[in-house]
Amino acid sequence: MANLTVNGKTHDVDADPNTPLLWVLREWIGMTGTKYGCGIAQCGACTVHIDGVATRSCVTPLSLAAGKQITTIEGLAQNGNLHPVQKAWLEHDVPQCGYCQSGMIMAVAALLKDKPKPSDADIDSAITNICRCGTCLRRQCGGFWRRARAWGRSSIRCQRRSRRGRLSRGDRLGCYQAG
Ligand code: FES
Ligand code: FES
Repeated sequence: MANLTVNGKTHDVDADPNTPLLWVLREWIGMTGTKYGCGIAQCGACTVHIDGVATRSCVTPLSLAAGKQITTIEGLAQNGNLHPVQKAWLEHDVPQCGYCQSGMIMAVAALLKDKPKPSDADIDSAITNICRCGTCLRRQCGGFWRRARAWGRSSIRCQRRSRRGRLSRGDRLGCYQAG
C-alpha cells in the first residue's frame, strides 16, 4: 500500500510499486487530465509536478512518487483562480485538439516558476514536449512569449525549428502575432 499525495489530498493506493504513476493517477485516483502519449518519456503528455519538478509520469514508478507532493493539471489552479500559464493559454486560444496541452502547461509552469525570465537555451532544454496534431505550435510560441514578456522578458524566440535551423525573424514574428 502506497501513500500518495495528489493536489494536496492523500490517497492510499493498493498497487504494485512498479506501476507507472501515470496509471495510478488515471486509473486509481481518477485524475484523467494527465495523458498517455508515448509511454517512453519522449512526448511529455504525461507531465506532472513531483515536489515542484516537471516529471514524466509514464516512466515514474509509484514507489518513487510515494511520500512526495504531486500536482496534476487538475491541481494547478488555486482557490478557483487559474494559474497564469492557464490564463495565457486561454487568452491565446492555444490548443488545437488539446491532447498534449496538460503536459505542455505543466512543463511551462514548472520552468517559469524556477526561471521567470528563461533564456532561449532554458526553454529549449526544458520544453521538449511534442504536440501530436502539430497545428498549435505557432499559438503555443505566441502564448509562451506573451506570458514571458508579461513577467519581464522583452523578447523570446520561438523554439520551433525550420528544417535548416531556427525560423527566420519574419516567421517568428508571425508566430507571435498568431499568439
Ligand atoms: S506519455 Fe510520458 S512522455 Fe509520452
Ligand atoms: S494540441 Fe493536439 S496534440 Fe497538441
